Amino acid sequence: MVKIGIVGIGTVGQAVIKNLEKNKELIKARSGKEIKVIKGVVRNLNKKRDINIPLTTDYKEVTRDPEIDIVVELMGGVESAYEVVKDALLNKKAVVTANKALLAYHRFELQKLADTTPFEYEASVAGGIPIIKALRDGLSANHIEEIKGIINGTCNYILTEMKKGRDYKEVLKEAQELGYAEADPTFDVGGYDAAHKLLILASIAYNIDAKPEDILIEGIENVNLTDIEFAKEFGYEIKLLGIAKKISNEIELRVHPTLIKKEEMISKVDGVMNAVSVIGDVVGETMYYGPGAGGDATASAVISDIIEIARGNKNPMLGYKIPLEIEKVKLKPIEEIISKYYLRISVNDEIGVLEKIAHILAKHNISIESFLQKPRNGYVKLLFATHKCKEKEIKKAINEISNLNFVLKPINYIRIEE
Ligand code: NAP
Ligand code: HSE
Repeated sequence: MVKIGIVGIGTVGQAVIKNLEKNKELIKARSGKEIKVIKGVVRNLNKKRDINIPLTTDYKEVTRDPEIDIVVELMGGVESAYEVVKDALLNKKAVVTANKALLAYHRFELQKLADTTPFEYEASVAGGIPIIKALRDGLSANHIEEIKGIINGTCNYILTEMKKGRDYKEVLKEAQELGYAEADPTFDVGGYDAAHKLLILASIAYNIDAKPEDILIEGIENVNLTDIEFAKEFGYEIKLLGIAKKISNEIELRVHPTLIKKEEMISKVDGVMNAVSVIGDVVGETMYYGPGAGGDATASAVISDIIEIARGNKNPMLGYKIPLEIEKVKLKPIEEIISKYYLRISVNDEIGVLEKIAHILAKHNISIESFLQKPRNGYVKLLFATHKCKEKEIKKAINEISNLNFVLKPINYIRIEE
């Protein structure tokens, strides 16, 4: 028998316990062992829960229990979770976690600490999609050229519902009630959760150790109905994308709302669904699709890790048995990233406005691809799509245009990926 202790019995923890019980016979047949959760750790013992296992508030009763074989960390957070997982590993417990924030900061230290102890984290990226196993194992023959994905279910749910004209705040609240959002939902809407996941994928793809502070992260807070209208008119969808690209020996890592052509497969991914496209030099493009958040979807991934460990398998955590010396890669500086942009500029309806904006864009070598003018009550919204330009040039141009006295509101911009 394999005995489990779970630290964190919330949305995901309860779904893991429920599904281990529901599919008990199948899981036993597939893993070759009976799997039993014998203890759980929570903050509040008085909270009502739909489970029947002994609970404690002291994580050491799990990480140091000689009976427990696998510690499953489902509490969230960074440093407190690190303390728990570290203690489990020091006590030679195998670890399963769904915690991408923890891994975004500590994955390389944990890999070292784990050494020969199994450590799995399938649920940390894209919920129910087995993307870690796909990238680390299924695609291990490939140099990875690009990863592009919708990897936050909450944001995709919000953007999908906004297309129906629904209010951003109301939909976010709904996503929280459905168990999709992080304990602090600014991690979702601010793009940080997607960035945590992108960093994990990038480490498997490129063995690169970057932190969230090192990469470009923008969330969906500024996307509004005008942007959605523009997207519709010009044949685009707006999606929060995580993008990792290898260009010679530089890795570009970025998370931001993105305008993508309607015909692309990833544009059709709606609601809480996630999708990740991976381009490998041997296989070409492969794509993975499935539910990106929610208790059951995440439990499916957590339980697959438990089964993997119960089978006696020990995978190299980030996919490398020895360091990849021949391919030293470095992170591309944010200001050097090249993209096309959409700009939304609210201005007074005056003579010469367009000329002044066009002049500033030209000064920074930014060429306009298309333009739309939307008259509003007493003012005008100017919507531009640019050709490709450098991040540092568009930022300078936006700053200069913002200072023109006929500009009424902060300028919004969205990158266009084609
Ligand atoms: P949740 O519903 O907020 O549950 C968190 C659980 O951890 C609760 O039972 C809480 O106890 C317990 N906890 C928190 N801090 C603790 C501490 N310091 N000591 C002891 N217990 C503590 O969160 P969740 O949605 O299940 O998410 C759990 C993890 O899975 C997070 O890392 C999240 O990012 C990840 N994840 C979630 C999803 C999803 O769709 N929800 C998908 C993929 C990955 P109380 O119940 O007593 O408050
Ligand atoms: N809050 C996350 C999301 C949970 O919405 O995608 C899954 O990692």
